[in-house]
Amino acid sequence: MFLSKEEERMLRGDYGEAVSEAMKIIVKVGEALSAERLIPVTHAHASGISYGTIGEPGLYWLKSLGDRGAKVRIFSTVNPIGMDIDDPHKIPVGREFYEKQIQVLESLSRMGFRITVTCTPYYIRSPKVKEHLAWGESSAVAYANSVLGAYTNREGGMLTIAAAIVGRTYYGGMHLDENRVTKYKVTVKGIVDPTEWSAIGLEVGEIVGGNVPRYINAPGNELSVKLMLAASAASGSVALSVIEGLTPNGTYHIGDEEKIELGRDSIEKYFGNLEDAELIFHGCPHSSLEELEYLNSRIKEVSGKREVWIATSPHVYSLAEGRGTVRELERKGVKVVKGTCSVVTPLEKLGFRRVATTSAKTYFYLKRKGLDVWLVRLSDIKEVI
Ligand code: F3S
Repeated sequence: MFLSKEEERMLRGDYGEAVSEAMKIIVKVGEALSAERLIPVTHAHASGISYGTIGEPGLYWLKSLGDRGAKVRIFSTVNPIGMDIDDPHKIPVGREFYEKQIQVLESLSRMGFRITVTCTPYYIRSPKVKEHLAWGESSAVAYANSVLGAYTNREGGMLTIAAAIVGRTYYGGMHLDENRVTKYKVTVKGIVDPTEWSAIGLEVGEIVGGNVPRYINAPGNELSVKLMLAASAASGSVALSVIEGLTPNGTYHIGDEEKIELGRDSIEKYFGNLEDAELIFHGCPHSSLEELEYLNSRIKEVSGKREVWIATSPHVYSLAEGRGTVRELERKGVKVVKGTCSVVTPLEKLGFRRVATTSAKTYFYLKRKGLDVWLVRLSDIKEVI
């Protein structure tokens, strides 16, 4: 692989052991994928930092990087963790998990990561068209490539941390125009609700795998797009979906396409009754301010028969707090959880077995954890829930 003089110095250890180790990770992955060189990146987003995911070996590695003086070179943010970031009682994960999770955050903060704990880093800093990134959260990667026209692969957590330290990643995959080529043309009929679009994303991901689909009649609002992209990134590792009229021109090419047609019939199997759930969950990916305000306008009371969680980032939470939205939702009995979600928190240990959600990505992962889970339409969220 070709390396610039500066990159060679990093690899050799001229900037210290931690920088050298980070550079070795990037180069090794790049070589394995036949990348010819590296590309500077402006924003790294580290995923997999819930203690439940990273565990003791990951925590040890983060601490050792910090001990060896590792610092981030670029704007660097982090994904959600396994508990509410400020209130350990809101989701009672246990003392040991709590303490270890705090150590993970302290290690990242010491290196200069911003403790954003969100899967929607684009609400904090929106990348420009054709900006190269090293992001590790699949839903955010899909949003960055498909909606914002940025260029990023779906990186592993370790690589994103290494990329933050050296400010580069390998030049391959979605960083190359030649790989941003559509393979499927998707026509969708009769879909209205954001959760229905989410289910469409789940179906599309299963059909296209890691290829690029092109949607002809795209969902008409940001929430539907966000939910749909997150779901297809989960079921099929789709990093880029072209959405006609939305994806910036010049960031993709149209290739030889197979046709896919989907409608309500294709997704009805995922839906169930709201009343049967012990937990209703919205906020995957993390809710925007508009979503919190919409749900606040819908819900009048949580009946006590079930819990209702809405997940968001600390950033959006503080905006919603300033407008009184969080206080109103919590007075009605809704738990507004920040910096976490029902997937990265150890939900199964909290005693929930039956979960209804507006997100097909949550559906996909909770099903794999063995929970009884189904979808509910956002428009089905009632006054008394
Ligand atoms: Fe975010 Fe958790 Fe969903 S990290 S994308 S809310 S699974």
